Amino acid sequence: MMWKDKYKIGVELIDGQHRELFGRVSSFLQAVQGEGDWEVKLEQVKSTLQFMQNYVVEHFEAEEAFQRQIGFPEYEKHKQVHDEFKSTVNDYAETFVKEGYTQELVQELGAKLMTWLIMHVAAADQRIGAFVREQGGTQ
Ligand SMILES: [Fe+2]
Repeated sequence: MMWKDKYKIGVELIDGQHRELFGRVSSFLQAVQGEGDWEVKLEQVKSTLQFMQNYVVEHFEAEEAFQRQIGFPEYEKHKQVHDEFKSTVNDYAETFVKEGYTQELVQELGAKLMTWLIMHVAAADQRIGAFVREQGGTQ
């Protein structure tokens, strides 16, 4: 799963964060799917997951702040999508604590993260870029 320049929305801060997210989800998937003993891989899986949870929140806050700043008309709807995604990730984290980090469940989350990220960044977030361009740029 690779970052592509076509995912850029033309806003440096947001594009940088998206790129970072793609990189992290990729290494998460590699850690999960790679060869080796699950118990050994688990430490990397846990730390990546921890990072993702924090970084997703940080990124959504930055992106939402930017949307407010430019008066993005779909802000409420977009924020709701972010909130739902945060709940999904948190639900998984809770399940892991309660039921343990099973390979099956962690892989399921990995696949979800990847699909969501591609769909969201390649579609919903592109509308932010389109709006900025319609308004004649960020300045
Ligand atoms: Fe977004």
